[in-house]
Amino acid sequence: MDDELRRRPPLPGDEHAQVGPRRAEEPLCLLPRHAGEWHVRDGVAVPVPLVGACTTKELTGSLSARGTVRRPVSLSAGVWTRVLGRRRPGRRRPDGRRGEPGPARRRPLTGRHAMHIFLTGGTGFVGAGIARALLARGHDVTALARSEASAGALRSTGVRPCHGSLDDVDAVRRHAERADAVVHAAFSRHYLDDVGSAVTTDRAATHAILDALRGSRKPFAYTSGLGVVGDTGDRIIDEDTPLQPPSHMRWRRALELSVLDGEHGIVIRPPLVYGRGGGHVLQIMIRTALRRGAASYPEPGTNAWPNVHVDDLGRAFAQALEEAPPSTVLNVVGGESTPKAVSEAIGRLVGRPEATFALPLDRARRELPIVDWLTVTQRIDARRVRALLGWRPAEAAIEDDIAVGSYRRFVRPVPEAPAT
Ligand SMILES: NC(=O)c1ccc[n+]([C@@H]2O[C@H](COP(=O)([O-])OP(=O)(O)OC[C@H]3O[C@@H](n4cnc5c(N)ncnc54)[C@H](OP(=O)(O)O)[C@@H]3O)[C@@H](O)[C@H]2O)c1
Repeated sequence: MDDELRRRPPLPGDEHAQVGPRRAEEPLCLLPRHAGEWHVRDGVAVPVPLVGACTTKELTGSLSARGTVRRPVSLSAGVWTRVLGRRRPGRRRPDGRRGEPGPARRRPLTGRHAMHIFLTGGTGFVGAGIARALLARGHDVTALARSEASAGALRSTGVRPCHGSLDDVDAVRRHAERADAVVHAAFSRHYLDDVGSAVTTDRAATHAILDALRGSRKPFAYTSGLGVVGDTGDRIIDEDTPLQPPSHMRWRRALELSVLDGEHGIVIRPPLVYGRGGGHVLQIMIRTALRRGAASYPEPGTNAWPNVHVDDLGRAFAQALEEAPPSTVLNVVGGESTPKAVSEAIGRLVGRPEATFALPLDRARRELPIVDWLTVTQRIDARRVRALLGWRPAEAAIEDDIAVGSYRRFVRPVPEAPAT
């Protein structure tokens, strides 16, 4: 990554409940924004009230007294399960609505034990990020490969390929049965041309995985997307907000519900994914800008547009498999930008920042096949993934990664690998 690439500034909530660097007597979890999370009182995990106190000393004392944790840890759901070995009560939100259920049904197999994970879509943009994170955390990954080229690509990254296609539901079922956990991140690359068949295939493969895991309590992470929440307007929505998915996303919402009904289903909803010079939407925007000699966006371009770096997303998947309780939905959002700001970054990338312009909406609809992705407003509350898993984004912000980071491969030749 380029030296000039700046690191993302801290986001609100980034400092969530990290015990390690704090002083022992320093109060923890006092802020209203931590309401609905957990701390230890008298040896049991209790929800953090709107204003409450817990010190690092109390916390680590409670944990190490049981001989389980010898050093400070972050406050994630898995800690409570490992240390207390008991069911958390369902999360009660201050507004009285129910949150996600506790992790009572989690198998001891998960946590930080190495798992054998079956992954679909391991050669894809999102799936490859998940595979990297799983391998980095010591898991063993077997991924579906429908061609020799895909199998070779997987092998070169340390993933074991297994032959099969999503269309072969028996193969999908068989591979899922053999694994300790499953991640489904495959999806037709040609969905823009034939959404119907992409959806049929995805539905059949997801149900084959659910069949294979029935009764096993093995974690299953399904890759959904924030597309299911549609346009939020000015409303900020979280995972508990009742949804009215746009008509083209109802199939996906139905699949989410099937996954959440499973033994240990986890639904991950990424927004726009960027990083490592990848992602269909950004690639289309950059290629269009290179062709025209200027970046553009549909007017007004100021709508809230959430995003996440592919490596941060991969880490969220890995942590969710290890620690998230059954029936968890996670909005995994690392940052928020706007189509205008992203286009301005593309303008810097292509060397003509001053030429970036707003396209009238009707013209944008004719010229940009992805215009619907660029005009939606999404204001997302993504605190759950931070609270539950201690996850936080660590990679460069989207504008920096485009202008001076991994997307520079579009404007300069990739250096040859040195001869060995
Ligand atoms: N990218 C984003 O910004 C974003 C945002 C939100 C949600 N998502 C969701 O994340 C998922 C993955 O997206 P992506 O961007 O990673 O897509 P991608 O880069 O196009 O990757 C698709 C993957 O699916 C595999 N695949 C497709 N059809 C298959 C089949 N019939 N049998 C076996 N494997 C098949 C491909 O394998 P081959 O290598 O063999 O083609 C590839 O590994 C999708 O469900 C998408 O909706 C993505």
